[in-house]
Amino acid sequence: MAAIQPFVLRWGIISTGGIASAFVKDLLVDPKTRAVHDVVHKVTAVGSRSVEKAQSFIGENAGGDKSIKAYGTYGEVYADKNVDAIYIGTPHTYHYINALDSLKAKKHVLCEKPVTSNAAELRSLLATAKEQGVFFMEALWTRFQPLALEVKRIAEEGSLGQPVVLHADLSGDFDIYNIPKTHRILDPDLGGGALLDLGPYPFIWAVLALYEHPSNKLAKPSNTIASMVKTPLTGVDRSTAFTLTFSPSSPSASNTLAAQAILSCNINVAAYPTGVVIRYERGNISIAAPIYCPKSFTVQYYEPGKSSTIAREETKHFDYVGRGMHFQADEVARCVRDGKSESELWGHDKSLLEMDVFDEVRRQGGYKFPPGVEKVV
Ligand SMILES: NC(=O)c1ccc[n+]([C@@H]2O[C@H](COP(=O)([O-])OP(=O)(O)OC[C@H]3O[C@@H](n4cnc5c(N)ncnc54)[C@H](OP(=O)(O)O)[C@@H]3O)[C@@H](O)[C@H]2O)c1
Repeated sequence: MAAIQPFVLRWGIISTGGIASAFVKDLLVDPKTRAVHDVVHKVTAVGSRSVEKAQSFIGENAGGDKSIKAYGTYGEVYADKNVDAIYIGTPHTYHYINALDSLKAKKHVLCEKPVTSNAAELRSLLATAKEQGVFFMEALWTRFQPLALEVKRIAEEGSLGQPVVLHADLSGDFDIYNIPKTHRILDPDLGGGALLDLGPYPFIWAVLALYEHPSNKLAKPSNTIASMVKTPLTGVDRSTAFTLTFSPSSPSASNTLAAQAILSCNINVAAYPTGVVIRYERGNISIAAPIYCPKSFTVQYYEPGKSSTIAREETKHFDYVGRGMHFQADEVARCVRDGKSESELWGHDKSLLEMDVFDEVRRQGGYKFPPGVEKVV
């Protein structure tokens, strides 16, 4: 019997920055190294604002593969008939226009986080994706990593009981006093600051552990409380802390989860090694930093009836070839192959929740983008 051929997804890459480079390197890792046999990835085009940059990007990240087209405009990638799906790796405030142009060209889209500058832009993109009948997903790669799938399985298998409180922080020392104010982490025109850049990662763990928990029945947080510390350098948020409360909508409601996520992000201190801690009625899960791509987690189970004594502890380690961005690409390929408009793991509802929460956090923190940054309000 002839072997079933894997589905081939042909990618066009928009931009030649740091994360586009990491993504392409992962795309080109042989899927068999991660036991994936049903899909493969091919890069067919790279678009940059400069054709020379596109050429050197292909040289550095794809071994100078002559079959990959180098374009000096993004528009040529959207128009390329050999491109099925587009990966967008531009700064946050360009995601909307780049994704809109891709969708209008009937291309499937994987767009870097945060998916847009605000929720209104995302709603507009989702309407366009629906009209065009194409797949659309935010590149929240953490949700697709094998470690995240295993954390979810253990968290929901019942032994730990209900989640009670989750702490997650992602910080990074961006050397803010020495980088140019036009750097994307500082420039308000590029959606600078901690929330939009780092906030998606503490948020994704709150979604996985609380929003998706079966007892929550996909109910949105009943309350969001936030505050920001701004840097006088450019006025963007240097530190942001936000709390999401999940609670039953009424005493008889089917969503019975009562739990809180305490989330934070910061652009002028290094990440703290703890990563994410999720505390349950009957134990804890601690996920090692970096929280966007953790490689191990530990589960502790309490002695029955004694939450002061750990009866059993287990640490799980994960290893694979590549950085871990290819798992989300496999998901895109399978969804496109199966004619789906969104992923079941990181679907449109979760990106919308993220952008609604971030809009509210910015409102409470008093962070307004400069006029014209938000293309839809
Ligand atoms: N998933 C993750 O772990 C992760 C990590 C880092 C960043 N990100 C996300 O990826 C996006 C890009 O981040 P990055 O670190 O890759 O940024 P970067 O290194 O600065 O690259 C951004 C690229 O976007 C293009 N671009 C288009 N208009 C631009 C403008 N006005 N100013 C600057 N660049 C412009 C440029 O490519 P051309 O010159 O070739 O057009 C540039 O190389 C952000 O939204 C960020 O949140 C995700």
